[in-house]
Amino acid sequence: MGRDRVFFVCQNCGYRAPRWLGKCPDCSAWNSLVEERAVPEAVKGSSVTASGAPQALDSLEIAPEARISCSIGELDRVLGGGFVPGSLTLIGGDPGIGKSTLLLQAMNAIAQKAKALYVTAEESARQIRLRADRLGVSGKQLFLLAETSIEAIAATVRSWQPAFLVVDSIQTVFSADFPSAPGSVGQVRECCGQLMRLAKGEGVTTCIAGHVTKDGAIAGPRLLEHMVDTVLYFEGDASHPYRILRAVKNRFGSTNEIGVFEMTGGGLREVPNPSELFLQERPEGSPGSVVTPALEGTRPILVELQALVSGASFGTPQRSTIGIDHKRVALLIAVLEKKAGIPLMGQDVFVNVAGGVRLNEPAPDLGVVAALLSSHLNRPVAPQTLVFGEVGLAGEVRAVSHPDIRLNEAERLGFKRCLLPAGNARKLAARPRAMELVAVNSVGELLEKLF
Ligand code: TYD
Ligand code: MG
Repeated sequence: MGRDRVFFVCQNCGYRAPRWLGKCPDCSAWNSLVEERAVPEAVKGSSVTASGAPQALDSLEIAPEARISCSIGELDRVLGGGFVPGSLTLIGGDPGIGKSTLLLQAMNAIAQKAKALYVTAEESARQIRLRADRLGVSGKQLFLLAETSIEAIAATVRSWQPAFLVVDSIQTVFSADFPSAPGSVGQVRECCGQLMRLAKGEGVTTCIAGHVTKDGAIAGPRLLEHMVDTVLYFEGDASHPYRILRAVKNRFGSTNEIGVFEMTGGGLREVPNPSELFLQERPEGSPGSVVTPALEGTRPILVELQALVSGASFGTPQRSTIGIDHKRVALLIAVLEKKAGIPLMGQDVFVNVAGGVRLNEPAPDLGVVAALLSSHLNRPVAPQTLVFGEVGLAGEVRAVSHPDIRLNEAERLGFKRCLLPAGNARKLAARPRAMELVAVNSVGELLEKLF
């Protein structure tokens, strides 16, 4: 009896209001309230029975996991060895970054071994066919369905029973039971929920593509991340051909792995040696260019840091960075000025990480300082020299994690000399290396030892 009780819930913070509001009074997010219906009291818990006896953890049988490999080594590695059967994976990224391309290429190998269905809700089947031809994907085992209704997709999956399902993209499918438009928070959540029940219920390994919104989250406030098993982000700069696939959540593996790809005319190509690629166009012997070994998870990548210091023409000097936090660079400039007496405050400073890579750890600090010094003094750093270390506010150089992994990669590429934190050098001294290790205690000391 009576109407269902309706209320509105902020999708950002969970605030509940009895009527719709344009702005959430709690977290001030705009247009974040979505209608929800209360479950009638009579239904709540009425048919619940106990769900079986709890089991001791080590009494559970575990069969060795069979993974579904997609024959793309970089993708398999990021997933932790392939797709886990019955899991739900989300691949997010900017529109046009290459999600559909990656999924189609991955399905190429999977379709040879298992029944695979590619649901396209964005492009027509013809467009997919044209792309497949260009990618050299053979279409014999791969089945296509152009459909946007999630109920129709679910019905097809139940009757056709594929082992592997791709839904491209989650923003364009919709549920008829839900009044809001496709791509809205409610629809995306509902469709993802249905796909999750389908994946778990039917045991179909599912992969969905999702566009990230302007602020970088998939369809609003990181809505889907907690619902799925694995979240991969496909990142890259539209002006560079390189793409990095990063796991941000993985229930079946580490989130430390990245995969590197290059977008070519024939689709995505794996890049097994990213360091070589990122150092390819390095202007050796030119001031302001320094190589630093960055770590992406457990994977070392040698990248080139470039700095340009030039006299400010007028007013406030410019500070511009690409691929590295500009606040971090401002801090390093201040440390250089105060602790090493290098007058940079009145200079324009530009710092760039070559190749469209983004650095998020403090280990490249010393490399940035070296590049700034090199550009300021107009003296090149020897091309076979490597610099890394964290720089503190007192100008001290602090030890960083995994120096051995970083050095091994550099040795592989023929680097001869490395300036590194004294704390790291002490521990590494036990094992003789082909590379000359130069311990650095402070930013001032770097100046003496760099050139
Ligand atoms: P796409 O996979 O459609 O991106 P998404 O699904 O993430 O929106 O990739 C589209 C871009 O990739 C497009 O700008 C063209 C480029 N591309 C190539 O350069 N080479 C290729 O072989 C393919 C298929 C796409
Ligand atoms: Mg697409």
